[in-house]
Amino acid sequence: MDAELRQIEAETLGEIEAARGDREALQALQVRVLGRKGLLTQRLRAIALLPPEKRPEAGREANRVKERLLAAFAAALRACEEAAPASGRLDVTLPGRMEPRGRLHPITRVTEEICAIFSRMGFERVEGPEVETDYYNFEALNIPKNHPARDMQDTFFVSADVVLRTHTSPLQVRTMERRRPPVRVIAPGRVFRRDSDQTHTPMFHQVEGLWVDEGVSFGDLKGTLTAFVQRMFDEETRLRFRPSFFPFTEPSAEVDILCVICRGAGCRVCKGTGWLEILGSGMVHPAVFENVGYDPARVSGFAFGLGVERVAMLKYGIDDLRRFFENDLRFLSQF
Ligand code: FA5
Ligand code: MG
Repeated sequence: MDAELRQIEAETLGEIEAARGDREALQALQVRVLGRKGLLTQRLRAIALLPPEKRPEAGREANRVKERLLAAFAAALRACEEAAPASGRLDVTLPGRMEPRGRLHPITRVTEEICAIFSRMGFERVEGPEVETDYYNFEALNIPKNHPARDMQDTFFVSADVVLRTHTSPLQVRTMERRRPPVRVIAPGRVFRRDSDQTHTPMFHQVEGLWVDEGVSFGDLKGTLTAFVQRMFDEETRLRFRPSFFPFTEPSAEVDILCVICRGAGCRVCKGTGWLEILGSGMVHPAVFENVGYDPARVSGFAFGLGVERVAMLKYGIDDLRRFFENDLRFLSQF
């Protein structure tokens, strides 16, 4: 037994020496000697067949040989590795493999920027549900049952009484229901309409603003929005207030800014007008105040609903709104 073991030991050590530097030969040899059916492994099993009094001695010797061979294999394989690393041979002169860097979506960035400007003017940020009840989206906002905005053509209905909100204005009602004046909030979020062309998409983003207190005037509305537009774009950016109509404001105005694509000359984005509508606004209608339990004789306020995509298009000179939602990385990675 001992002689046999020592023979295996000596031969294997010799073969390891001969296979020096040859990883595959070393691995094959290791399997042949120490593998499950290897020479030494079989010897170790045979120990169990010896008479009991001989087993401890033989076991010790066999284990000594095994340890020695394992160490020799390990050392030889390590030497191979050092000479020529196997997987991913390390070439420190190769350029690194860059992971693509993630960025915030331009719509997210513009939303944050809009909210930051208003927050510096004292507006607090609030949010509300995208799936909204008829009451908050229409009824409480003084939008009568027969109003065209309630048409199936324009609104995504979840059920007879539940819709995907068509604007962020429900936040006016939700906020005033919960708080007493003064109220000064900004509410960004997604809105949905059955609408799709170069300047309309079925899902887009608005930022709602609401300021209610004693003595808030249309002058405050104009001043606030002018300050906003000049901070968002620059001091030279022209804006115009156009009389308009919303059931929940009176009087109402839409605000356009000079089309930055054509600088007012007229193009397909501004439909030849030179101006692009970015928001709707007005003085909160007394009926809305009454719906939330505010006294219209005591408080007044203004509200506005800003189209985030429109602002982003103007800010970055993009001529097709749909680009924002195609998820084309060549487009998105420019921001
Ligand atoms: C409203 O949604 C009103 N809730 C705004 C408002 C709020 C008025 C508070 C008064 C007081 P309007 O439908 O005009 O109004 O939309 C407001 C802005 O959203 C538009 O000026 C435009 O910039 C943007 N917008 C409207 N429809 C789309 C669309 N399909 N795709 C992208 N932007 C749109
Ligand atoms: Mg409009």
